[in-house]
Amino acid sequence: MTEDRKERQRDRYRAPDPAEGPLTTDQGVAVDHTDDALTVGERGPTLMEDFHFREKLTHFDHERIPERVVHARGAGAYGYFEPYESCAEFTRAAFLQDPSVRTPVFVRFSTVQGPRGSADTVRDVRGFATKFYTSEGNYDLVGNNMPVFFIQDGIKFPDFVHALKPEPQNDIPTGASAHDTLWDFVSLQPETMHMMMWLMSDRAIPRSYRMMQGFGVHTFRFVDAQGRGTFVKFHWKPKLGVRSLVWDEAQECQGRDPDFNRRDLWEAIEAGQYPEYELGVQLIPEEDEFNFDVDLLDATKIIPEEQVPVRPIGHMVLNRNPDNFFAETEQVAFHTANVVPGIDFTNDPLLQARNFSYLDTQLIRLGGPNFSQLPVNQPVAPARTNHRDGYHQTAIHRGTNYSPNSLGGGCPALAGADGYAFSHYAERVDGHKIRKRSESFKDFYSQAALFWNSMSDWEKRHIVAAFRFELGKVGAVHVRERTVEQLAHVDYDLASQVAQGIGVALPEPGANNHKPQASPALSLDNLQGDGS
Ligand code: HEM
Repeated sequence: MTEDRKERQRDRYRAPDPAEGPLTTDQGVAVDHTDDALTVGERGPTLMEDFHFREKLTHFDHERIPERVVHARGAGAYGYFEPYESCAEFTRAAFLQDPSVRTPVFVRFSTVQGPRGSADTVRDVRGFATKFYTSEGNYDLVGNNMPVFFIQDGIKFPDFVHALKPEPQNDIPTGASAHDTLWDFVSLQPETMHMMMWLMSDRAIPRSYRMMQGFGVHTFRFVDAQGRGTFVKFHWKPKLGVRSLVWDEAQECQGRDPDFNRRDLWEAIEAGQYPEYELGVQLIPEEDEFNFDVDLLDATKIIPEEQVPVRPIGHMVLNRNPDNFFAETEQVAFHTANVVPGIDFTNDPLLQARNFSYLDTQLIRLGGPNFSQLPVNQPVAPARTNHRDGYHQTAIHRGTNYSPNSLGGGCPALAGADGYAFSHYAERVDGHKIRKRSESFKDFYSQAALFWNSMSDWEKRHIVAAFRFELGKVGAVHVRERTVEQLAHVDYDLASQVAQGIGVALPEPGANNHKPQASPALSLDNLQGDGS
């Protein structure tokens, strides 16, 4: 029997082996004929009485569920995570204590913008979402392959995604991010500039999911057994190094093999070439919260590795393909609020919005409140709740289901105050209710410039070409011009090269050219791709 607890759990849910018996109806009644419906005579009408025919069509008619509103196209795999050593110094999370303990995981990689049937190798952000089935419940690290995000506050997410998606009147374009609405939004929201630099770089066309970094993006919080907090940023690094396609290759792949990235992942695992990633953390003591040029709660900024090195804490191996794409890869439900004791949130306003949005969307996508009972979502830690009923309830609960409860016979006891249960970090907060972003979030260009300055010549050429290609498709001249004005805040040379390529005038030199506050010498070495 396998040692992997998740595998043993999946075994309990596998459908009967089709080789072991005849075709049946959903009710288990054997069927001897499935090619001809029951009719009156050889050429007469089809009879309602044919329950097999009706069941077959009805089930087919209901096969589709809504695709994810973003990250609709994805590929997944099972595997395991092992810490290198105990992290008890920073976190009491059970799965980070003992190097001999393997925690089962399920990972889903994805593109963001395109629908389920879109091509893999489009210019886009890639999702990198990991579900750890820990002994203390599920922990989801729902990250991307870029360390920053487009917006600072989740209230802008619907606007951003509406601008990113195809235009409402004709659903054009799919795939690439080139259209007026996106660039209109971007040029009106300068906080997007840093992420747009990443998006126009080769990072947006990864060669393989096996050769891609992952980032938690937000600053999270580790909490140790004494309740002491430490800020943490998560980094996945692929053992195969970071590799990108070049643009022409990416475009050719879209035509020749739209499944290029998912096929690569599937075939590598089938061939025993298991993808491997190292988990690293940047740790920031709470007392250092205000010792940076940037606000730790601003998801459009990185903490440069020169300032806070990444400390490797463990590794993950993906060694099993799913048995069924729909049951597992499509129905998996990640959620940033799925945390375990020892991992907690910060007040990053983007993270706080995500903590609402994922469960909310999954209630409709997966048809009600019981989707955590689906095999891929089920924790290996026993779930004992007072939740009952609802669509697709599969558990047969017994006894009463309320608390407090002196009758017993149903309601589980509450965990003792022995450190086993999750308790929210007791952060002190104080302030007036206002709709105003902190001044500490207002530097939109320094890190975009830092990114540009850290690129090699050939990487810069690729970025300029990408801006020219994407902006060249924008019809509204004022949107092109405004985007070039934004780029002039990042780097005047970049802006002038893009302007030349798309036939718009440049703003006056120096008029609004931003002077980066961070030293250009501060390189992003460890964040760069290392080849084509
Ligand atoms: C998927 C919302 C920002 C990474 C999704 C989904 C929603 C969503 C509704 C679909 C979930 C589902 O149907 O199961 C949001 C909101 C954001 C935000 C409201 C900002 C306020 C981010 C950021 C990241 C991210 C910053 C990366 C750090 C992902 C990933 C998935 C996803 C990886 C796909 C998960 C999967 O593979 O099933 N997001 N998102 N999102 N999001 Fe976000």
